[in-house]
Amino acid sequence: MTNLWSHKGAEGMGYAQPAPLLHEDDLPLASGLLRSSLPRWPRLSEPEMVRHYTGLSRKNFGIDTGFYPLGSCTMKHNPRVNEVIAQMPGICDVHPHQPEHHLQGLLSIFHEMQHMLSVCAGMDEVTLQPVAGAQGEFTAVRCIQEYFRHRGEAQRTRIVVPDSAHGTNPASAAMAGFEIVEVPSTTDGRIDLDALEAVLDDTIAAMMITNPNTLGLFETDIAAAAELVHGVGGQMYYDGANFNAIIGRTSPGLMGFDAVHYNLHKTFSQPHGGGGPGSGPIGVKSHLAPFLPGPVVDVRAPRDGEKAVDDGRWYVWREPEHSIGKVQQWHGNAGAVVRCWAFYRRYGRELRTMTEHAVLNANYLRHAIHREAKEAGVDHLFVDGAVTDVAKHEFTLSMLPAKEATGVTAMDIAKGLLDRGYMAPTVYFPLVVPECLMIEPTETEAKSTLDAFAKDFVAVVGADADTLHAAPITTPVRRVDEVYAARNLCVRVPDEEL
Ligand SMILES: Cc1ncc(COP(=O)(O)O)c(C=O)c1O
Repeated sequence: MTNLWSHKGAEGMGYAQPAPLLHEDDLPLASGLLRSSLPRWPRLSEPEMVRHYTGLSRKNFGIDTGFYPLGSCTMKHNPRVNEVIAQMPGICDVHPHQPEHHLQGLLSIFHEMQHMLSVCAGMDEVTLQPVAGAQGEFTAVRCIQEYFRHRGEAQRTRIVVPDSAHGTNPASAAMAGFEIVEVPSTTDGRIDLDALEAVLDDTIAAMMITNPNTLGLFETDIAAAAELVHGVGGQMYYDGANFNAIIGRTSPGLMGFDAVHYNLHKTFSQPHGGGGPGSGPIGVKSHLAPFLPGPVVDVRAPRDGEKAVDDGRWYVWREPEHSIGKVQQWHGNAGAVVRCWAFYRRYGRELRTMTEHAVLNANYLRHAIHREAKEAGVDHLFVDGAVTDVAKHEFTLSMLPAKEATGVTAMDIAKGLLDRGYMAPTVYFPLVVPECLMIEPTETEAKSTLDAFAKDFVAVVGADADTLHAAPITTPVRRVDEVYAARNLCVRVPDEEL
């Protein structure tokens, strides 16, 4: 019997279960190919390993450990049923190279997702391939570029973005080879139609914008903007990061958009903090559909011998006629798509309720913060980032008055919130709001959480400047010198810690 304390890999290190007894013939590699010495990995017992990783997970902040009001990123609760569904063998144990008749169930999910997303956005066709919002932007911009090449309008080399745009919009357009034309917003934070009209001509390929915009404001002139852009032959591109504010109430298609990306990992849940895996499908009107990346999932009646899934349809892969090519394999992050499908299936036609609660929560929190601040006498230290009364699913606050009065910055407030057990709001975005904090509670937070956050936020705003400059003091990592970290990037674990 193997000695519990001395089997290979854990000699003298502590308790571990016996290693499986392998016969020479069972070894996956010929014995001559096996290494003769152990790699320089930390040699720990199983309980030590478990404690190590559990300890690491507790040092991290996540939506499961606290409120995560990260504006524009829509960090909402991820229902656990999504995980159960995504891990079913018929879903997670299949491979896209299996024949179509093995994959009918999964393809039916993809097809339903394509259809649901088209309907919600008022588009005609959808690809699920891109794996991030930013990649969706790039993909759609490339489709627009190919569309114009096919029409003999290759002179359309410029893309318009408002000055409040998310950085990925101009970055994606520039990656596709476009020149960026920035247009200023009006003083209330919306599109300036005169400024837009002034830059429009037949070199414009598209305008990229999100609605509600990055200030959380609905662009009331969006139809007029679309008319202006279409008037010079350009396309309207909808950045869907703020889709959580409009689903079921209106759609990009109704507003005059030709192409849209969806951040499935924001609007439809799916764990995405820490960089993924995400899913950024795009939807397009029919004139752009031939340029989508392939394959997309299509449907037809089953032929003789084909045993359809319950809905009596047969699902097939299809390559769009003038496809720009692949931007990922098959359906990109298929598991993410399935989780988001599970989320959507629980709402069905009630997705509109989700939107309404998201907008209600944002407006409730905004008013609660103002009310608490007034009572505490600190309301002079910040102002709304936009001159308007109606926010959608997120809102911005400018800490400029605090900076001028006491030297406390938006970053100080954000760090102070970490000490109270919250994830910081988005900071310094959008750039048009000085000392900006952007707050998005999402529909999944309870009123009691919002009330507690409003109180704590106001307590942080009222804290003394020295405390805030030093914050955070309770987190495993204190305030880092970000400039130093960026210039001297080192992500290696020091040898002595191995
Ligand atoms: C307005 C907006 N557009 C685009 C993106 C890019 O999305 P992703 O992070 O999925 O690439 C974001 C992400 O934060 C966003 O907030």
